[in-house]
Amino acid sequence: MIISQNFLLEKLYGGFMKIETRDAFPDFVGFVSNIDLRQKLDNKQIEEIDLSINKYSVIVFKDQNISDEDQVRFTKYFGNIEASGKTSNITKAKDRRLSTDLADVSNLDKNNKPLSQNDPRRIFNLGNRLWHTDSSFKSIPAKYSLLSARNISEQGGNTEFADMRSAYDNLDELTQNKIQDMVCEHSLIYSRQRLGFDMVKELSSEEIKNFTPVEQPLVRINKITGRKVIFLSSHIGKIRDWIRPDSMCFIDDLIEYATQIKFKYIHKWSQNDLVIWDNRQTMHRVRAFDDLKEKRDMRRTTVLGEERLM
Ligand SMILES: [Fe+2]
Repeated sequence: MIISQNFLLEKLYGGFMKIETRDAFPDFVGFVSNIDLRQKLDNKQIEEIDLSINKYSVIVFKDQNISDEDQVRFTKYFGNIEASGKTSNITKAKDRRLSTDLADVSNLDKNNKPLSQNDPRRIFNLGNRLWHTDSSFKSIPAKYSLLSARNISEQGGNTEFADMRSAYDNLDELTQNKIQDMVCEHSLIYSRQRLGFDMVKELSSEEIKNFTPVEQPLVRINKITGRKVIFLSSHIGKIRDWIRPDSMCFIDDLIEYATQIKFKYIHKWSQNDLVIWDNRQTMHRVRAFDDLKEKRDMRRTTVLGEERLM
């Protein structure tokens, strides 16, 4: 069933949450107050948040001093949790700082010390500085990501989001038709290659196998709103039936187009922000900070997608 934007607005009107928007991105980012995510929510409240994620794509909750347990409980309201493990990073189980329900997107080791410059885990994590959608390299890509700011950097470390629905809507008709049936290969190996991190050289054949490319359509539809999106990511390394260099040129052009300022929201973190984004209709990236000195403790939970797209 497709729910129109108006119906969504009607459902949200008069709800329990107060959602404010800003003139620069009225349909993209919602700022929520008057809710405490440590409290249990009922089905109506959960539905309201879920619909608002579909409507806006990025939802910002301020002042949420939550524990890992609170974050996991809240995340499970929206579906199953995508476990963090060997198919999403190269951190060994014995070196994990957090439980597998949480993706550790900090710059810290298990002793809460910043990772050193040449640590492969640090270099691997630099991939988050590239525009991407979470887990697009998995056969069932992620639905929502929830990022909790436990400790923020003094300088830098903003997260930027780009609206892939508006990016699709604003494409010329020729390009919309051209990409309609395109299929792309996604892998963490491709995004890390962009940084000069040679995973094939650094990792074992067993580890490399965990990052075997998967195919995803380049255009997808949000079944709730009926809107089309460009399903883009720096994890893309090849378009089906294209050679790699042509694929990379085309994808890089599209990423440059889709991340121009008119499609973009820049989130400057405050302590205890919790931001939810919809990976089905956005891309995001983190910006640089002094990660060899500062401690930026960000903890992500991820809602597993509901279906294979191919
Ligand atoms: Fe990410």
